[in-house]
Amino acid sequence: MTDTAMTDTAMELRVARLDAIPPGEGRTFGVLGEKLAIFRTREGRVLAVQAECPHRGGPLADGLVGGTTVICPLHGWKFDLSTGDAIMGDCGLRKYPVRVDTEGHIFISFEDAAPGAAATSD
Ligand code: FES
Repeated sequence: MTDTAMTDTAMELRVARLDAIPPGEGRTFGVLGEKLAIFRTREGRVLAVQAECPHRGGPLADGLVGGTTVICPLHGWKFDLSTGDAIMGDCGLRKYPVRVDTEGHIFISFEDAAPGAAATSD
């Protein structure tokens, strides 16, 4: 597998190694001019969303992770990382498809980055 794979409608990029993210935590990565937060749950799932909270730009990778939820460290909005939906807050997160290969490389696909509600709330 190469670092980049493309089809007519998709581009998949190798972004990180799984061992760069401790279980139960998230890390921020810059990809194609976007900042992504990639989380590794204690249950072994790897999930990627936009890095900045839609409320006021809080660093979601620094949030408290429990199961597939994260709580923004700034004001406590809560999100479901598996869907991007807001559990507490006015709008959800952009979510990115993730694949982890057998060697522990994390790939992000950019074709289906669902445009979650991107408006900033005051
Ligand atoms: S910046 Fe995330 S809840 Fe305010």
